[in-house]
Amino acid sequence: MPDLRHEFPLDEGLIYLNHAAVGVWPRRTAEAVKQFADENMCRGAQHYPAWMQREQSLRQRLAWLVGAASTEDIALLKNTSEGLSLIAAGLDWQTGDNVISSNQEFPSNRIVWESLARQGVELRQADISGEDPEAAIIACMDGQTRLLSVSSVQFAGGLRLDLKRLGEACRERGILFCVDAIQSLGALSFDAGACHADFVVADGHKWMLGPEGVALFYTHPEARERLRLTQFGWHMVEHAGDFERRDWRPAKSARRFEPGSPNTPGIHALDASLSLLQQAGMAQVEAGVLQRTAWLTEAVLHDEGFELLSPVRPERMSGIVSFRRRDLDAKEHAALYRHLMQAGTVCALRGGGIRFSPHFYTPMQHLGEALTMAREWSPVA
Ligand SMILES: Cc1ncc(COP(=O)(O)O)c(C=O)c1O
Repeated sequence: MPDLRHEFPLDEGLIYLNHAAVGVWPRRTAEAVKQFADENMCRGAQHYPAWMQREQSLRQRLAWLVGAASTEDIALLKNTSEGLSLIAAGLDWQTGDNVISSNQEFPSNRIVWESLARQGVELRQADISGEDPEAAIIACMDGQTRLLSVSSVQFAGGLRLDLKRLGEACRERGILFCVDAIQSLGALSFDAGACHADFVVADGHKWMLGPEGVALFYTHPEARERLRLTQFGWHMVEHAGDFERRDWRPAKSARRFEPGSPNTPGIHALDASLSLLQQAGMAQVEAGVLQRTAWLTEAVLHDEGFELLSPVRPERMSGIVSFRRRDLDAKEHAALYRHLMQAGTVCALRGGGIRFSPHFYTPMQHLGEALTMAREWSPVA
């Protein structure tokens, strides 16, 4: 296990419970970016081949994280929304087709499918608030369903879906399966093959502990072939770098989705961040995340003043615990949120309550301190 105190030298007094929004960089990431900045200042791109090696290293780490069979299945995009948009723009839709999603999705995974209405494609948003969310999703499927697109973990309450069950249902019916994994990759183990995912999309700035603006776009080789390309440039062709060549074809690999120059500072940063997760091991990281979630869940449940807005069943848990104070209305929750932020407890206001999202390195005592602060605050009369 890496030295977590050394890697996360947060300001004295700061409690950071916001990895479901934007995570913290480990020390090694900050150092990698500083070094890269110095290199650019002193030597420019003299050692560009080394940058390309860093890019390949990142593809390897992402393939490991998502459970891809090959680095060929990994494209590096700007963000989750871009990946979802490439899928929506790339599939050959027919009037009357439908896409299934849930009614708890982050806007990125709703708006993009709503945009297909002008092509006669219907978005069905399954109500996943009941006991069996997967059954509710599967019940929406019919002969016109082309794609299921859900988040592995819902952003507001942290509900974790059974991806294997959903992937199997899709496979049986010939439906494509797209997973927005931004709220689980880097926190929970993931296996794209085991859940039969055709597409997996996730930016690196949350649980992966990286910067904004570098995202994973996993495509299964067969699904990849089904996406019509919508962006073009020197970098997405099979013989990238052969600038004299006039004929071209798209790269066989997922690089075909990367039209031009890569985000090299972001790549250096995310590669360093993932090296930490790799060193710790995803089983250990997941155990640490779930230990914190279980602790917070218990503490909220045992306090009559709080109402838990997140799942209680262990298999539904993720890194997110949301709750509200029974005595406060929406406006007062917004004031409580501002108070917590001003006091140095970084969290979010989501789904009608306060959302805490610690990571595996978060000191356990910070959880109790943050809850006490939330319990003891009172609205100014
Ligand atoms: C489930 C989910 N999807 C997507 C995003 C953001 O997507 P992007 O990487 O496009 O900014 C978020 C951010 O909170 C999210 O929670």
